[in-house]
Amino acid sequence: MNDAIEQVLFSEKEMEEMITRIARDVDRDYADKKLVLLCILKGSVVFMGELMKKLDVPCEIDFMKVSSYGAGTTSSGNINISLDITRPDLDTCDILVVEDIIDSGRTLSYLTKYLLNKGAKSVKTCTMLDKPSRRVVDFKADYVGSEIEDLFVVGYGLDYAERYRDLPYVGVLKPEVYGG
Ligand code: PRP
Repeated sequence: MNDAIEQVLFSEKEMEEMITRIARDVDRDYADKKLVLLCILKGSVVFMGELMKKLDVPCEIDFMKVSSYGAGTTSSGNINISLDITRPDLDTCDILVVEDIIDSGRTLSYLTKYLLNKGAKSVKTCTMLDKPSRRVVDFKADYVGSEIEDLFVVGYGLDYAERYRDLPYVGVLKPEVYGG
């Protein structure tokens, strides 16, 4: 185990089981649709890569990069889009937004409305991890790998200062690493 990790929350095997379960649900729901997996960079890259390998339904992939400003106690945090989805056939696409984690809920709440306004045929959301205790805006994802407590988790795409994304499991970071 990496020296910075206090505890493994989801082992590689547990992550595989979690993603297999989500893939079966997505297969069931998207059998007759034009599924486009929309990866929200950067944290979702590992989860999305594993998810798409496990799907039986055909899918296309696309990418967006967004960041949230004005986090804090208000619900008015602004979302900045630095890489947008640009496809002429958006009105025929059933978008499944793929996230690594939901915290305040601002990002997915905003993105869902944004993509519908932009003309997507349908928009659903899928997250690997969910921290419901951190919610600032009311938001519920359609597919959730697991709810977790408010722990500082890294690995499987999740970072601390851009590190640890490459860990093949989800672990809790030692407080001394982030000065907690
Ligand atoms: C994280 C995560 C979500 C967002 C969730 O991204 O990947 O996109 O924050 O938070 P919210 O529910 O409060 O909106 P981050 O900004 O850390 O970027 P990264 O994926 O590139 O690490």
